[in-house]
Amino acid sequence: MSYDLPGSKSRAILARGMPLLRNGLWYRDASEKSIAKGFRPPSQMIVGRAEGDFVWDLDDNRFIDFQNGWATNPLGNCHPEIIEAVHHAHRRYGFQWEHPLRIELAERLARIMPGRALPRFSFEVSGTEAAESAIHLALCYTRRRYIISFTSCFHGEGLGTKMVSAYNSDNNLYMEAWAGGVLKAPYPYSEDIPAGMSQEQYVEYCLWYLDTHLPEYVVPPENVAAILVEPGLAEGGNWIPSPAFLQGIRRICDKYDWLMIADEVLTGLGRTGKMWSVEHYKVVPDILVAGKNLSGGVEACAGVAARDDILGDNPRATAGSTFAGTPGGCAAALKTLEIYERDNVLEHAARLAEAAAARMDGWSERYDIVGEVRILGLLMGVSFRAPEGVEERFHVARSVRDGMLRRGVWAICDNDPEVRMYPALNMDEAVMLQGLDRMEEAIAEVERDGVTVGDYPPMPSGNVGF
Ligand SMILES: Cc1ncc(COP(=O)(O)O)c(C=O)c1O
Repeated sequence: MSYDLPGSKSRAILARGMPLLRNGLWYRDASEKSIAKGFRPPSQMIVGRAEGDFVWDLDDNRFIDFQNGWATNPLGNCHPEIIEAVHHAHRRYGFQWEHPLRIELAERLARIMPGRALPRFSFEVSGTEAAESAIHLALCYTRRRYIISFTSCFHGEGLGTKMVSAYNSDNNLYMEAWAGGVLKAPYPYSEDIPAGMSQEQYVEYCLWYLDTHLPEYVVPPENVAAILVEPGLAEGGNWIPSPAFLQGIRRICDKYDWLMIADEVLTGLGRTGKMWSVEHYKVVPDILVAGKNLSGGVEACAGVAARDDILGDNPRATAGSTFAGTPGGCAAALKTLEIYERDNVLEHAARLAEAAAARMDGWSERYDIVGEVRILGLLMGVSFRAPEGVEERFHVARSVRDGMLRRGVWAICDNDPEVRMYPALNMDEAVMLQGLDRMEEAIAEVERDGVTVGDYPPMPSGNVGF
């Protein structure tokens, strides 16, 4: 099976978007550069419809969905019960701020927060707003001015979240000088550590940086409000930190009386096989940021959970935009959590993760181009290697992702040398394994044929992701 992508209907709508949407011209440039180097530009398609484990493009080609609405459809596409719950809330309330569902949802969330220690919730629309709100909350609560965040991390696309994110230096361009109150520390990302250091030594170095370097040489510890950390890199390449790192952060926060903010926008609500990724590390943060899966894949819902004292009486920490905690969003979240409990969704996700790990076992030994296979629950990624430099590594990953797409499997390859996958937590096991088998075929093809695939017409397009 091999789709010829994009099909004619997808191609036509992509062409219409190109002069209208952000990055239309940049996309054409990037495609032309790829072709000039002999690389295949990214294949694209436009979703025509979505249901359960699958999406179909406008040309009616079917794809196994590992892209998952950028990890926001925990129960698969268009879950009928969630859609019905949202319709019901829309019919009943339209949009109102003061509705009972926000309290019902806050009650439910308090019951599932790590250690039941974060009983209050503040609603936001997106993960970006929620991460910004968490930072503001920490600054106002501690009455301090600095936040520590990490390299390779991503917290959103708002002005504030761009300042704390350090995904890569390009991503920080023109924002560098704005981040005056942000101290960026190294995250022990496995593929980006000093030569000759073991992973364990680098974790120790990163903790030393937090515990000694910053407080002794950069800023007095009593000026630092919080450490903001992703307990599992998401956009930064689905990389999973060691327990020593997360537990070390908790210990350092306790030592200096800093707050620990866990950004669980992507890792949370079952993505890693437990409700919250911090549970793998037996760590309870003081503030937790949630989003994505909370929407049930149907209606945006996000927010910040925190200790009672932090969120209970902190009048300076204003938050919550007009559409924060909409009736539809709260209804989606409530129904999602109800289904998690009723159908033992987290147990299913943990079983799927075991099956996926078994199926991907040995890839890094069997294929020279495979760097690491990274799995924590259904946070799944594969990093790729190439002999000549970073750009080439990215093209290897993109070629694999491209081969997957032609074989009817939709995954993410953004700008990094990884292919990332976020199957729905209730995905059918046979479907998921079929998707992974097709991925392995794509890897074998790139290993055999390389990334150069001759002439492939540049795709006119808008800002549709790779
Ligand atoms: C860890 C993390 N935080 C925050 C965000 C931003 O969330 P949103 O895109 O809903 O604004 C993302 C998005 O990918 C994320 O991965």
